[in-house]
Amino acid sequence: MTKTYLPGTERGKYMRYDTAVILKRLYLCEKELVISEAGWIPGIPYFDMKTILPKILWEDAMTANALRERVFELRFPSRILEVGEDQQLIDLIKQARLAPNALAFLSTLAHVFKPALLQAYVSYLSLADYIGDGPTYRFMNLAVEEKRRQIHEIRQLLERERARAGQAERDLAERWTNECKERLQAMGGIGLDTPQAAADQGEAGSGISSSASGEASPIASFVPEETPARDNRFTNVRFYWPDNVDPSFPYGEGFQLQLRSAVSHLNEIWAVENAGHVLYSFAEELGWEFIYDAARWVYDESRHCRMGYERLKSWGFEEAELPLGTYIYDSCKGQDPIYRLGMLFYFESKNIGKKLDRIKNFASMNDRTSQHDMDFDWADETIHTSYGKTWLSAALKKRGQDPDDYTEIKEVCESIVKRTVETATAEEKEQITAIANRMIAKVKAVQ
Ligand SMILES: [Fe+2]
Ligand SMILES: [Fe+2]
Repeated sequence: MTKTYLPGTERGKYMRYDTAVILKRLYLCEKELVISEAGWIPGIPYFDMKTILPKILWEDAMTANALRERVFELRFPSRILEVGEDQQLIDLIKQARLAPNALAFLSTLAHVFKPALLQAYVSYLSLADYIGDGPTYRFMNLAVEEKRRQIHEIRQLLERERARAGQAERDLAERWTNECKERLQAMGGIGLDTPQAAADQGEAGSGISSSASGEASPIASFVPEETPARDNRFTNVRFYWPDNVDPSFPYGEGFQLQLRSAVSHLNEIWAVENAGHVLYSFAEELGWEFIYDAARWVYDESRHCRMGYERLKSWGFEEAELPLGTYIYDSCKGQDPIYRLGMLFYFESKNIGKKLDRIKNFASMNDRTSQHDMDFDWADETIHTSYGKTWLSAALKKRGQDPDDYTEIKEVCESIVKRTVETATAEEKEQITAIANRMIAKVKAVQ
């Protein structure tokens, strides 16, 4: 006698384990992209991208975290997130970091990896079970929305910057993007199925080496720029205000204080670049929880930088009138990245007490924007103090040192910045004093 059963439906396509395998792959891709994006921040010259990319990497970190948590739920009690069959895919994302220029790197994001992830999320949402796997739906729908916006933002900037770039730079970027695209296509893209083992395509002229099936390929290591690339629409200097090198130059009161504070915020660009460098440098050593905190750290510093930029623009300043300094970032050149972590901790938190006074000051001047910016900045800095302590301790512990003793880190940070300040030339002092005086005179002229 033939047994009779009721039919299954499309909802049953993926079982719990299949779902976890797919989400793990997507987590690993997002995570590697966060690391790439952070590592490239110092090397990207475009000012707008220095503040757009931090937001993008923070969103990616939020998505990655949600994916990771979901994998743990689905695989409970296992908390293992092995790379396994996704090795080639992950290697390709790592190799794409070695892009020959900023255009090439951004182009791989906008034309290769982000569209591939978007496609994967859309396919997943169309095939997975919205009942059994309901909790995945909320964050993945958000990820789809964010990826679409990210692709649009990066492409828009690329279009503008490509028009300004030289032919050779554009050609390099195009070739690199096509190579990455072909390599990804050969693996079947970022999909719901296991990446296919691609045949070796490492040809002459190709910057990307491919590995034999299943084997981890040797990846030339990427290093974030130790000298930050900067946007030449601004006045690029080492010292961004005379008081960096001349303690007798007054911090100022009234409008001078408003101006000084906005220039300070704008110049947190060093903190954005430095936080990106730190995220990249400690990603392997300190793991996901660190990457997740650091992504927010990078994003926060970019918001502080943007606060200053927007205030200065609203007061009528053009980019060419604004000084962008590098001296704190420069001080760490060639040093163990632990001092970059220390620098972010000390130089960002040392003024935290003063910020409360500034908030009152700006309120008394009826400058609600400066007050508002400082107020939100203060809230972020209290979070950063805790990040600084947690991760500096973790890094010290990994190095076999006392995790509660930051004395040496603090001393080295202070002394390397002091050494850099001592190298300020008479011309540099003259130049930054002239820039500051011009800005002050401009405000005076309209009062
Ligand atoms: Fe900040
Ligand atoms: Fe900070």
